[in-house]
Amino acid sequence: MMRELVIKNRSYRRFHQEVPIEPETLKELVDLARLSASAANRQPLKYILSCEPQKNALIFPCLRWAGYLKDWPGPAEGEKPSAYIVVLGDTRISQSFSCDHGIAAQSILLGATERGLGGCILAAVQRTKLRKVLKIPAHSEILLVLALGKPKEKVVLETVGADGDIKYWRDKDEVHHVPKRKLDDIIMG
Ligand SMILES: Cc1cc2nc3c(=O)[nH]c(=O)nc-3n(C[C@H](O)[C@H](O)[C@H](O)COP(=O)(O)O)c2cc1C
Repeated sequence: MMRELVIKNRSYRRFHQEVPIEPETLKELVDLARLSASAANRQPLKYILSCEPQKNALIFPCLRWAGYLKDWPGPAEGEKPSAYIVVLGDTRISQSFSCDHGIAAQSILLGATERGLGGCILAAVQRTKLRKVLKIPAHSEILLVLALGKPKEKVVLETVGADGDIKYWRDKDEVHHVPKRKLDDIIMG
């Protein structure tokens, strides 16, 4: 079950934008992050939730999608995420957030996948712009944005080839392929 969930939990970047995500669902997902591990149990992460078109429209222009897909400018209208969770670090609690936000992101995305949703972690964020449009206070560091929605694209895993190329690609049918290194190549001993 866990393996299936992890395999299904891909980075999705095209969504059925018309399918809404309720605020309660976003809260349930953040609750999974709340219950996850945190360095020294400091729990410095805070979250901004967005599932309304107007607020979503403020966040979307601050994001950069799929750097390896040079000819793709990001999701078109109708395929944009239905919701976002902005992951913040409260510098009044801690100056460093270790890998807390990665763990939180994975918990949230696994929970989304379990619910038939999907998403993408975005670190390529125009932080100054996002801070301004969402009025994020100076004591909050913008760590990640999680885009969420009902996936509209097919994503398949591949094995990294002999050339070692790890870049994902899209085929002529718009299927997104993600190469993963072989297990034997990552276990060092
Ligand atoms: C820390 C982190 C930051 C990421 N930032 C972005 C981003 O800014 N934009 C984007 O389109 N994808 C981003 N991704 C998604 C990765 O591109 C994706 O995880 C990778 O291509 C592998 O695909 P998979 O998640 O389906 O295994 C990020 C992923 C991680 C873990």
